Amino acid sequence: MKTTFTQKSIFYFFLLCSFHLLAQNKSGRELFLIDKDWRFSFGHLYDTKKDFGHAEGYFSYLTKTGFGDGPAASGFDDRAWRKLNLPHDWAVEQPFSENASFSHGFKSAGKNFPEKSIGWYRKKINIPNEDLGKIISLKFDGVFRNSKVFFNGFYLGTEESGYNGFEYDVTAYVNYGGENTIVVRVDASMEEGWFYEGAGIYRHVYLQKTNPLHVAQNGTYVTSEITNDNALITAEVKLLNKGHFKGNVEINQTVLDASGKQVATNSENVTAPEFYKTNTFSSKLNVKNPLLWDIDSPNLYQLVTEIKSEGKVIDQYKTSFGIRTIKFDPENGFFLNGKHVKLKGTNNHQDHAGIGTALPDEIQYYRIAKLKAMGSNAYRCSHHPPTPELLDACDKLGMLVIDETRLMGINDYHLNDLQRMMERDRNHPSIFCWSVGNEEWQIEGGITGERITNTMQDFSKSIDPTRPVTVGISSGFKSGISSVVEIMGYNYLGNGDIDAHRNQFKQQPGMGTEEGSTFATRGIYFTDDAKHYQSAYDKKPRPTFYSIEEGWKFYAERPYLAGMFIWTGFDYRGEPTPYGWPSVTSYFGMMDVCGFPKDNVFYLKSWWGKEPVLHLLPHWNWSGMEGKEIDVWAYSNCDEVELFLNKKSLGKKKMEQNSHLEWKVNYTPGTLEAVGYKNGKKVLSDIRKTTGKPENIKLSLDKENVLKGNVSVVTVETTDKNGLHIPTANDEIMFSIKGGKILGVGNGDPTSLESDQFIDDIALVAISNFMEQKETTASLPQQLRNYSENEWTEAFKNRDYKKQAPSYIYKGEFDLKNNSTSNVVSFFYKKIGVETVVFVNGNKVEPSKEDFQKYVLNSAILKQGKNTIHIAATPLQKIKDWDVMNTDPGIIQVITPAESWKRKLFNGYAQIIIQKDENAKEVVLSASAKGLRATSLKN
Ligand code: GAL
Repeated sequence: MKTTFTQKSIFYFFLLCSFHLLAQNKSGRELFLIDKDWRFSFGHLYDTKKDFGHAEGYFSYLTKTGFGDGPAASGFDDRAWRKLNLPHDWAVEQPFSENASFSHGFKSAGKNFPEKSIGWYRKKINIPNEDLGKIISLKFDGVFRNSKVFFNGFYLGTEESGYNGFEYDVTAYVNYGGENTIVVRVDASMEEGWFYEGAGIYRHVYLQKTNPLHVAQNGTYVTSEITNDNALITAEVKLLNKGHFKGNVEINQTVLDASGKQVATNSENVTAPEFYKTNTFSSKLNVKNPLLWDIDSPNLYQLVTEIKSEGKVIDQYKTSFGIRTIKFDPENGFFLNGKHVKLKGTNNHQDHAGIGTALPDEIQYYRIAKLKAMGSNAYRCSHHPPTPELLDACDKLGMLVIDETRLMGINDYHLNDLQRMMERDRNHPSIFCWSVGNEEWQIEGGITGERITNTMQDFSKSIDPTRPVTVGISSGFKSGISSVVEIMGYNYLGNGDIDAHRNQFKQQPGMGTEEGSTFATRGIYFTDDAKHYQSAYDKKPRPTFYSIEEGWKFYAERPYLAGMFIWTGFDYRGEPTPYGWPSVTSYFGMMDVCGFPKDNVFYLKSWWGKEPVLHLLPHWNWSGMEGKEIDVWAYSNCDEVELFLNKKSLGKKKMEQNSHLEWKVNYTPGTLEAVGYKNGKKVLSDIRKTTGKPENIKLSLDKENVLKGNVSVVTVETTDKNGLHIPTANDEIMFSIKGGKILGVGNGDPTSLESDQFIDDIALVAISNFMEQKETTASLPQQLRNYSENEWTEAFKNRDYKKQAPSYIYKGEFDLKNNSTSNVVSFFYKKIGVETVVFVNGNKVEPSKEDFQKYVLNSAILKQGKNTIHIAATPLQKIKDWDVMNTDPGIIQVITPAESWKRKLFNGYAQIIIQKDENAKEVVLSASAKGLRATSLKN
């Protein structure tokens, strides 16, 4: 990688990376990230009782406005729910199960697990009186999936897609000067993809405040035309008027360079749109000598759009953009800023080891930086719109992107999704192509596919005419979509005759939207189907498919093909082809789920990257195989490579372009060394040494941690007495942390069924058989007396609120699975009386100091199985006849503390993702294991 990339891009994104998170006060617009302090609990797919009685009411949220019931109601008691911060993926927290979905990586969530397919999220926010008159909205970057959102009990809408961003205006429902409740019910029972998709609010959520007249959501569109040393910028802005303002406003458009310096500005007077209408206005600005956005120098600009009325700013909206040209040529491939660029791409899904789909922003940057380090310059968002932070990372680090919508079709479901994706994403300079579909087998070869593609393609031009459209096609490249799509997307050489298609459609540019689908386990060099091991030597995955080298040679040799996108850059959960249970992740990645490289990374780095590369495989720890023949390969872009075993030359070989070298070597422990020559001179060497046994644990911060936030990626490995990394180690390492928390652990082993996360389990236990007896006095007992068994009647049944007893004694039961002393058991009481005394198994219990309606129950008074709770209470009185009185005494919460964090190494490596507490000076991660020297890492 050139220094220009590393230095410049790091500088630029530090300047720009967090601007959208800042509340922009005095600019008429404020944006608050509201990821923190949510309450979460599982509901139930079909048992409404277990779904907290939601939608059971006589009137539902669909019958009467504001009638959100169960957890959707503002007053719902969620004190016993788990507290968490977003992003959150509940699927990754679950254990693996053979009964779970193959395509989703066998996590016990989703349709076969009705008790783990509905997630409820609740959050309280204060909105001050001063906000009255503003437009208040909630912005979600994406929720998986089928989310219903409520605000103060008001139903706001349903978003089916697990990938779209969406926004709700809550202005009319706000409790100004007080508390407001946001509730999201997420239904992840259905799958949208055939790959791991996570579950829950796995992307950011924002609260936005604007003036009634403001720039609409995703309301700017910046394009540029470059002539000589000038970029003519067209800055379109869509104004939305949610108020009654009439008359003229001023639109100021200013372009800032990466250092914040103004480089162009323009001002216009326009007529504001009518009430609830939008108007789009376009300004032209000239940027002299623009610094173009490029993969090596990802220069960005910012358009600041100010809307002014009588000299006062009523909205300020910032748009990050880049100036660059793109062109596909049917003869010569792809051009960026007039320069030919061969697309060296990867396909990727969005999950990562340990954390599933809930990626902190830092991990987006980490993953893109890893791909760049492999020499890759292009990324296909397979097969759905990504989170905006991924696109920010691509803009800032210099990675070209194919942005892909989820499903093909011509109805609102499909076109509206496409439109929202395009309007949200079209200012990202990294995006060079829209994809409107992938492998739609039902339609791709026929007239229906052709019609749908024509419509989607023309539709996309109406939103962004500056970028072409592709579709990934697999079943033959002969007819249907293949004959009309603008940029032909070939999915796999093995699926048809690419040259023949090209000869028939000479005017149609093309690229390999998928290639590879090869199988490899990191650090494994002998395929062993019984162990689900796929050797990491590059090989044909199946007879009609091709190795990475075969694929790349094909694409590299054909100038008319713009490049190829490997299936995939990283392994992902699900699709563990060619195996099934207990394999839970894919084998396709050039890197494993953590981002640890398989050997193919070095093949690509040799021919995709710019640095000199020499990489030797396999490792040299083959105890028991002495004298046996081992395949030794070298990946390199040197002219020649010479191999030495224990200083003895085994021959020098000439490297062919886009190839690799092989030797057969009889195993003897010691030192295997490759020496690389360029123009006859030794330039590089790579060594594999037989190591001793593991003695030390080593923790190191991954160098691709390029976004310096609070989240870091730590590599865990073991070394021998000489400090050599042990490539075969599989020790189990225990972790503890101070000044922060651990977000997840992984090791890239596709068959590992170890936990990704160690979090306290919170079980909510209902109180059943709730009965009552009338008492004759209002003074409450301090000790239980004997109650005659046959006088208990169902509590609150047929209660005549006009003739209540002076006090009541209630009795209920709750079951405990165990009575472990490490559990924390609490009773969250919901008021059923004015004065209350609570007894558990006959013992009077005291309310906790911080919450008078919470009772922490000591294990000494609890037992496994059935427990009894008595509540003595003076009754609540109805004020109005129609008052609905609470009859629910509350809930028992059982917290089972998590085991301590741990993970086995897999072939020498594990990964741990940590997050420093906001106020901590440093975070300290400690690691220990049986028989190994413990260590710690400070950051
Ligand atoms: C392709 C498909 C990808 C993935 C891959 C696995 O056909 O487009 O999403 O499933 O196969 O080989």
